[in-house]
Amino acid sequence: MPADQTPGQPAAGGAHAASLDPAATGGAPRLLARAALRDVAWEVGVPKPDPAIVVDGVTRSFGGLTAVSVDHLEVQRGGITGLIGPNGAGKTTLFNLLTGFDQPNTGTWSFDGRPLGKLAPHQVARLGVVRTFQLTKALSRLTVLQNMLLGAQGQKGESFWRALVPGTWRAQERANTEKAMELLGRFKLDRKKDDFAGTLSGGQRKLLEMARALMSDPKVVMLDEPMAGVNPALTQSLLGHVKDLREEGMTVVFVEHDMDVVRDISDWVVVMAAGKVIAEGPPQSISQNQAVVDAYLGAHHDAPLTIEEEDRVLAEAEAAIAREQHAEGDVIGSETRREENR
Ligand SMILES: Nc1ncnc2c1ncn2[C@@H]1O[C@H](COP(=O)(O)OP(=O)(O)OP(=O)(O)O)[C@@H](O)[C@H]1O
Ligand SMILES: [Mg+2]
Repeated sequence: MPADQTPGQPAAGGAHAASLDPAATGGAPRLLARAALRDVAWEVGVPKPDPAIVVDGVTRSFGGLTAVSVDHLEVQRGGITGLIGPNGAGKTTLFNLLTGFDQPNTGTWSFDGRPLGKLAPHQVARLGVVRTFQLTKALSRLTVLQNMLLGAQGQKGESFWRALVPGTWRAQERANTEKAMELLGRFKLDRKKDDFAGTLSGGQRKLLEMARALMSDPKVVMLDEPMAGVNPALTQSLLGHVKDLREEGMTVVFVEHDMDVVRDISDWVVVMAAGKVIAEGPPQSISQNQAVVDAYLGAHHDAPLTIEEEDRVLAEAEAAIAREQHAEGDVIGSETRREENR
């Protein structure tokens, strides 16, 4: 941990405070997040220098299945934390719990020291923690702009429908519309503002969802597979937008299966398997971790073969065929010899 930073204290003052201004430093938040985590041990449940989210003893069962069982987890403020793990590991369930979309059987969690238990999603959003969904929740039969205005409601708790009826707008709603248009411009969706969300491509819906999440000026953004189902042409732009959130000082937690993406943008990686956190560390620590390798191998038996696996299977098949041909050759050869000897 850097010498000028106290554990458990916000990294305020001196160089840290100055470097929080991205304009002054041209991308320092990334460096700041990495530097803050540099000396943190690669251990499950390890305390972070400046945690935004702290989770304690959170469990959630569905019938006999324990979907989530997290003893202790801290998410560093201002960094991008990648949450990975095989299908069914409990990543989405943990997101649901932390953002008020589901209630746990046990446990507590807090944002900035403030407990978030028993709060509804809009209350959690108002405190600054928002999330997007693995399966996009953009409302198809509302326009892009209307979907954005819906995102502002978490903040003010005003009537959503009134915001959609022209003529009843108030100053707040006008401000919301301005903000929505600004965000749509940033995500290159402004020209689509009057299109129904249902007409957008999968990638554009993901962008809309991210833009909508930003309507409430969040401090923590939790993105559940923002890249899934996105056309590769849009992947880079989406990745850029995720990095921009960090540049603006937000804390990002995102779920992603593509390890290249995880390595590219994460400052820290948390690995879940069967409901538990089984590893934590910087991206480079994860691929060497035996528990992670085992969890993925165990879970991917029925996954498509990798190129290496395919090469190995092909090589084995070719060797087997060659052996058979050789044996056949022996048989044919001896038959021929027998024929010749007659
Ligand atoms: N509402 C529910 N009722 C019953 N079981 C559930 C429910 N939600 C999740 N589960 C189960 O909990 C486990 C964790 O699911 P979850 O969706 O959190 O996994 P995940 O890590 O997000 O997986 P994926 O990578 O496939 O999105 C799974 O076994 C899932 O079937
Ligand atoms: Mg999921």
